[in-house]
Amino acid sequence: MIVSPSLLSADFGNLQRDCEMINNSQADWFHVDVMDGVFVPNISFGSPVIKYIKKHAKKPLDVHLMIVDPERYIGMFRDLGADILNVHYEACRHLHRTIQQIREAGMRPAVTLNPHTPVEVLEDIIADVDMVLLMSVNPGFGGQKFIMNTLDKARRLRAMIERKGLNTIIEVDGGIDKTTAPMAAEAGITALVAGSFVFGSDDPQGTISWMKTL
Ligand code: DX5
Ligand code: ZN
Repeated sequence: MIVSPSLLSADFGNLQRDCEMINNSQADWFHVDVMDGVFVPNISFGSPVIKYIKKHAKKPLDVHLMIVDPERYIGMFRDLGADILNVHYEACRHLHRTIQQIREAGMRPAVTLNPHTPVEVLEDIIADVDMVLLMSVNPGFGGQKFIMNTLDKARRLRAMIERKGLNTIIEVDGGIDKTTAPMAAEAGITALVAGSFVFGSDDPQGTISWMKTL
């Protein structure tokens, strides 16, 4: 299991400490949530904070863009040091072109689906992405409740990936905790994002290690 702690739940007054916690844990990536207040009803953080995270992170940045017209910012996120760039299916008018541009810029492209978007829309783009990120909450906030239908979507997506002989990563984001993480693993999910579960835990590194075993 790939584990990607979401810095949205970090203590921004102690961001360096929280980055070191992830560096010294078994986590694989840093999940970085970028919100523009238009695509989602919340604003998170931008360039200065991401630059700082990149300076301290010793693992790849898994950047999740919750913004409209993400194609306008591909070069900017490459320069900020994004390793994986997740764009929302719902935010891209020309998704195929955007995916190609992300790859040409030297990043790993990933496509993200909101809870209402069926996985079947990925039939003709899945071979071009390294990862699909399934939102298991409506994007915009940490600490929400896991939407159970995501498990059925994950199983259908896993079947599509196997039918095509691909090795696409399936990541899930939102409401991951002690109960839902094993359910996600069982449904064929291979990467877990977790914000409040990790940073709200008494033992964040132990929580990460536990997720790695799933
Ligand atoms: C929500 C973000 C998530 C968020 C998850 O829009 O994309 O990455 O941090 O938070 P939890 O794990 O608390 O649901
Ligand atoms: Zn996210």
